[in-house]
Amino acid sequence: VRKSASGALRFVFRSLKNAVRSNRFARNLLYDIENTEEFSNLLEHERMIGDAVRVDAYHEAIGRHVKAGDTVVDLGTGTGILAMFASAQQPRTVYAIDHSDFIRVAQRIAEHNKRDRITFIQANSRDFAPGERVDVILHEQIGDDLFDENMVENLLDLKRRVLKESGIIVPGRFELYFEPVTMKPGLRTPFLWEQRVHGVDFSTLRSDPELHRYKSSEYERPFITPGTVERFLCEPAPALTFDLNTMQAADELPRLIAQSRTVVHAGELDGFCLYFRVIFDSEVGFSTSPLAPLTHWGNRLFRTPPMRLQPGATLSYRVELDDLIDSRRWRVLVDQPS
Ligand SMILES: C[S@@+](CC[C@H](N)C(=O)[O-])C[C@H]1O[C@@H](n2cnc3c(N)ncnc32)[C@H](O)[C@@H]1O
Repeated sequence: VRKSASGALRFVFRSLKNAVRSNRFARNLLYDIENTEEFSNLLEHERMIGDAVRVDAYHEAIGRHVKAGDTVVDLGTGTGILAMFASAQQPRTVYAIDHSDFIRVAQRIAEHNKRDRITFIQANSRDFAPGERVDVILHEQIGDDLFDENMVENLLDLKRRVLKESGIIVPGRFELYFEPVTMKPGLRTPFLWEQRVHGVDFSTLRSDPELHRYKSSEYERPFITPGTVERFLCEPAPALTFDLNTMQAADELPRLIAQSRTVVHAGELDGFCLYFRVIFDSEVGFSTSPLAPLTHWGNRLFRTPPMRLQPGATLSYRVELDDLIDSRRWRVLVDQPS
């Protein structure tokens, strides 16, 4: 009885989640509640401000793209850091908006630093209507999985309602990578069914359906410890590239991507490492590659059954991005290498 009751409950819960997912208004509302909670955490802001790769790139890019006399919106101002960088360019005004109470902290930092061209407004970007069109939208709505802070939806909404024809979104261009990697020796977590320790053999679990219920949402795509990737097995190639300045709707992004890559380094395929590049212009940008200087963003490893690859082999796989803002519904499915 208990088993069927919990099965029924799971069914109801799943149906409710699916209903919410298919309703844009409800999705955005749920997302905003989670997001406000996340960024009410001081540690998150400390990590972001302490990330020199991120902060230096934004500082340089804002110096290049915000001009004297511009009207600027900083979507999701947090500590106000991007608004304060913009205010140094002598803009006409910077609207710094954030849906979190934390905006009061940003205001105090700006006052202390005598940044008086900034208007702080506690609002959700989707409710923000300044009564004029602006020259620049600044943002850092970038989650570990690139899309999971609702970046595309929030930015395209604001662009349509508030940005001038000639205006720009900074940053606009992004590349998303799923790179086949080998982990450093001893730093890959083996699947349980691969293990044999002190004579105890777990291989019976290889195709045991009972195990499914013990796989958490992180199981197939955990975050990896920084510094544990040994190398990429192919020359990096983005699965997805897009520019918020030119696109109109999130639907323009493909949800099913087939990639076929030539292996250039021999090694064990331990999974596909997710990272992205943020491109401000041809000279300024940064990457969250596990082989680049460290940022505060995490890298997920989409685990695959172990497979030895040789140079010259072709590695083909499909990336399924069923729901852009929910990487728990993403999959990387590998074909046999040829
Ligand atoms: C990743 S943090 C970036 C903070 C700051 N811009 C920085 O670079 O340090 C994103 C911020 O956006 C805010 N935010 C997220 N979605 C928002 C929305 N739709 N409207 C207003 N603020 C939002 C969050 O509260 C959070 O402070």
